Amino acid sequence: MSSTTLPATMKALMVDSPSQPLQLKTVPTPSATPGSCIVKILAVEADANTPHILKGVPGYTFPANFVPAAHAIGRVVTTGPDATVLRPGQLVMLEGFIRPRDDPNEEQILWGLTAGLTPQSLRFMADNWAWGCMAEYARAPLENVYPLDEARLCGSPAEGGLGYAVENLLHLPTLLVAMGGLRAIDVKPGERVIVAPATGGFSGAAVQVALAIGAQVVAVGRSRESLLKLQGLFPPGRVQIVQVTGDVEKDTVSLKQFGPVDAYVDLSPPEASNSTHLRSCFAALRKYGRACVMNIIGQDVAVQYPLLTWNSLTVRGQFMYEREDARLMIKMAEAGVLRLGEDGGNEVVGRFKLEDVNEAFALAAKNHGVGKLVALVP
Ligand SMILES: NC(=O)c1ccc[n+]([C@@H]2O[C@H](COP(=O)([O-])OP(=O)(O)OC[C@H]3O[C@@H](n4cnc5c(N)ncnc54)[C@H](OP(=O)(O)O)[C@@H]3O)[C@@H](O)[C@H]2O)c1
Repeated sequence: MSSTTLPATMKALMVDSPSQPLQLKTVPTPSATPGSCIVKILAVEADANTPHILKGVPGYTFPANFVPAAHAIGRVVTTGPDATVLRPGQLVMLEGFIRPRDDPNEEQILWGLTAGLTPQSLRFMADNWAWGCMAEYARAPLENVYPLDEARLCGSPAEGGLGYAVENLLHLPTLLVAMGGLRAIDVKPGERVIVAPATGGFSGAAVQVALAIGAQVVAVGRSRESLLKLQGLFPPGRVQIVQVTGDVEKDTVSLKQFGPVDAYVDLSPPEASNSTHLRSCFAALRKYGRACVMNIIGQDVAVQYPLLTWNSLTVRGQFMYEREDARLMIKMAEAGVLRLGEDGGNEVVGRFKLEDVNEAFALAAKNHGVGKLVALVP
């Protein structure tokens, strides 16, 4: 075991049970166990949806004495005996997709967010991972901790660094969800990919990652103003926009006007389950095109069965991502092709201490959308 001294207690934002307030508490600092490490949290995202989820929303469950959030950047303090690459002092990204080692394909939880809906997954979170990252320290599964090249990402540009602040790196876990979807259908450099919608937090991330992969993006949305704003975040010519009119045939023509469409990533929120864009986007795909659907909680959607057959389409669902996606995405950021600063369409709109979490949530709610985040810096 590799270790550095930890304080006996730490501050953590904890909710006793759903609908109870989030409170800053002093609790024992966790210690590393086999399969885990302790990370000093340098920045953790204050997601605008968190207060809503903590009130108890159908589909989201969490155990008693819950510490929310898992999108974080930190520094390894100590590791369990089975760590092979992680070592104290390393700058790391944390993400929240935890799969039990003895059954990674069945019980899956989103650390700091939801334990899922089976008794096994609820127990798995309660017994092991009830505390997320809104704290001074977090005990994290080794599998969810990724080393970052600090000299390259945070070093000064004069010395070959990219000059990011630690908070800029907090964009990585959101971009990773998009990376999972784009890689699931193997989007390649030069290909044309529809991202629909394109103006949300995760969907905007899909635009950013698709551009970093080298794809051409057709961004779809209801609001021309939001689409123009999105387009303006990137160099001219990289993002084409199509405003949904509700006329499926007309919108399909608009989507195809830029050339053959190779792929389509759908990140619709539940409210968009009846949106006509779903039909237009499938219809716009070229023969042998690929689609990735990522909406998590919505409703059944009618599919154009004959179209799938005649056009030999591949439709793939994707929940979260694979570890290889994370490694590759970090390499893209370190290479400088996935931009985490304003030139990549990203902005850290505020930084708050744990004590000021409610102010952080309020600012995040006002700034929900492409590339924007609010950081807690414990
Ligand atoms: N598969 C996964 O692993 C995974 C992980 C995370 C999230 N997700 C899914 O991704 C979804 C989107 O996340 P997000 O953060 O991008 O959401 P978001 O920030 O809430 O934005 C979604 C976008 O959807 C559009 N929209 C809203 N209501 C609509 C409606 N009734 N009809 C058509 N479009 C509508 C809006 O764009 P315009 O107003 O510009 O049209 C909005 O910008 C989530 O709801 C979740 O289901 C999946």
